Amino acid sequence: MAYASFRSIGAYVPKKILSNKDLATMVDTSDDWITKRTGIKERHIAAKEEFTSDMGVKAAELALERSGLAKEDIDMLVCATISPDYFCMPSTATVISAKLGLKNVTAFDISAACTGFIYSLSIAKAFIESGMKKNVLIIGAEKLSAITDYSDRGTCILFGDGAGAAVISATDNKAEAIIDVHTGADGEYGDLLMTPNGGSGSAHDALEQESSSCFMQMKGNETFKVAVRTLTKDVVEILEENGIQSDAIKHFIPHQANYRIIKAVGDALKMKEEQVVLTVAKYGNTSGASIPMAINDIYESGRLQKGELMLLDAFGGGLTWGSALIPFSPK
Ligand code: UT7
Repeated sequence: MAYASFRSIGAYVPKKILSNKDLATMVDTSDDWITKRTGIKERHIAAKEEFTSDMGVKAAELALERSGLAKEDIDMLVCATISPDYFCMPSTATVISAKLGLKNVTAFDISAACTGFIYSLSIAKAFIESGMKKNVLIIGAEKLSAITDYSDRGTCILFGDGAGAAVISATDNKAEAIIDVHTGADGEYGDLLMTPNGGSGSAHDALEQESSSCFMQMKGNETFKVAVRTLTKDVVEILEENGIQSDAIKHFIPHQANYRIIKAVGDALKMKEEQVVLTVAKYGNTSGASIPMAINDIYESGRLQKGELMLLDAFGGGLTWGSALIPFSPK
């Protein structure tokens, strides 16, 4: 049987920084409020001419280079995004495949908001274990600044842009294998976090839509509570089902939405400070890109070594959630 292994990681962060102080000149907020309530100090914003696919390409190039594979070896590309280059089509995954010069790939996008990277991981694992694919490039890429309402202080302080990518490869060595991936959803909570207009369910006729039609809206406080509950429950289940204690986890890498959410979940799971990976202060919430960007951070700082066990945990619009137990398995 083929197993799926997490072979390499890469990320890209756009240059421009939007600080809390900058935001305080745009809406009624302060560095102090944002820092205390979210832990975010700054976020990066893509240039006008920089698309989600451009950031995805840069992250993917790095992951590919680090995998030691050639472009021709990649047989599938999955892009997790809620800020695609184009509404409907072509998918951002196909745009990225063209920009990378990938031929003979299956390429498609995943819409699972902040859980998108974990959903992509579960798809890569399933395709590889079934023998249908051998090397899958999974990408989380977001230009959330394009769908953020910068007059809404309840959301605009949270989000940033960026991309992360990983290569998932077939292996016959079980010790290298992704141990488990959980994914779930409950559409009853769909209205907590949504872009209400712009689709076929929109109240407006496409021709009447205002430019703000695709902006995100969030019931922040309710989302916060469901996030803590769901993230904790999901981790308890995946650890129990696989007979793994939380102290065996070297790196707990939760979706970076809010420091207070991460702290509450980490405390409930009795994670030590050194186990918990935090990037929310410098990147804010980058939705589907946040987990691979965080993995790349510990990789580039030398904290992530071969064989170390990572626990991923995400939660996002839909609502969706997911977790994954993964040994880092570079060649
Ligand atoms: O990635 C997907 C999942 N997303 C999340 O998990 C995000 C979850 N939610 C959150 O992170 C938090 O709910 C927020 C950071 C969005 C908000 O923090 P909160 O502690 O839940 O604040 P709140 O919404 O309960 O608002 C408290 C007060 C309100 O004022 P009053 O009614 O008490 O006078 C808000 O109007 O804070 C006010 N407020 C602000 N004040 C200054 C809301 N946003 C701001 C702001 N600056 N940016």
